[in-house]
Amino acid sequence: MVELRTDRLLLRKARQDDLGGFHTLLSDARAMTFWYCPPHQDVAVTQAWLDDMIGIDPGSGEDFAVEFGEALIGKVGMRRFPTIGFIFHPDVWGRGLASEAVRSVIDRAFREHGLPLIKADVDPRNDPLLRLLNRLGFVETGRAEETGLIGGKWCDSVFLHLKAEMWNGG
Ligand SMILES: CC(C)(COP(=O)(O)OP(=O)(O)OC[C@H]1O[C@@H](n2cnc3c(N)ncnc32)[C@H](O)[C@@H]1OP(=O)(O)O)[C@@H](O)C(=O)NCCC(=O)NCCS
Repeated sequence: MVELRTDRLLLRKARQDDLGGFHTLLSDARAMTFWYCPPHQDVAVTQAWLDDMIGIDPGSGEDFAVEFGEALIGKVGMRRFPTIGFIFHPDVWGRGLASEAVRSVIDRAFREHGLPLIKADVDPRNDPLLRLLNRLGFVETGRAEETGLIGGKWCDSVFLHLKAEMWNGG
């Protein structure tokens, strides 16, 4: 798996020694507010999630661990092409780091993988995420109610996509 470098970040393959860093992130209630599952209370849940990430078939997806300095701050990629998913630790929000990482993955998806479009499935209450995607050129394609049952509560979805021909580098 390739490594991607941006001005401030290294995007690389996930490793088993990322378990502690990912558990810190995925057990954080702020980061997990709109994630597809509740915060990980047990490190075994994170271990299974990490095993999935490390074991992705390169023909069907690509998901990067993101380092800022020496620290693991999040992940961005597509567990299955062409739907993008990312999560970053709240300590680094509001600095453009997530956008920088997402931009690099989108660029690779269009230039190297030749995807015709990238999709996103977003909780409509997730304003920071919708702002980020809108800034990068994603457009809404539809909405649906009660698409996920998370922690005993139903969540809705906004569906967005970005077509390759609309990508101008973000
Ligand atoms: C969604 C998420 C990644 C957004 O993180 P973020 O740090 O707000 O996103 P960005 O990297 O785009 O940063 C943008 C903010 O940084 C500010 N900023 C500061 N310096 C900046 C810079 N150099 N470049 C760009 N933006 C900068 C922007 O003004 C913007 O602030 P605003 O949103 O208040 O307008 C983050 O909230 C998150 O990880 N959430 C939890 C996981 C999640 O919900 N994932 C979605 C499922 S796919």
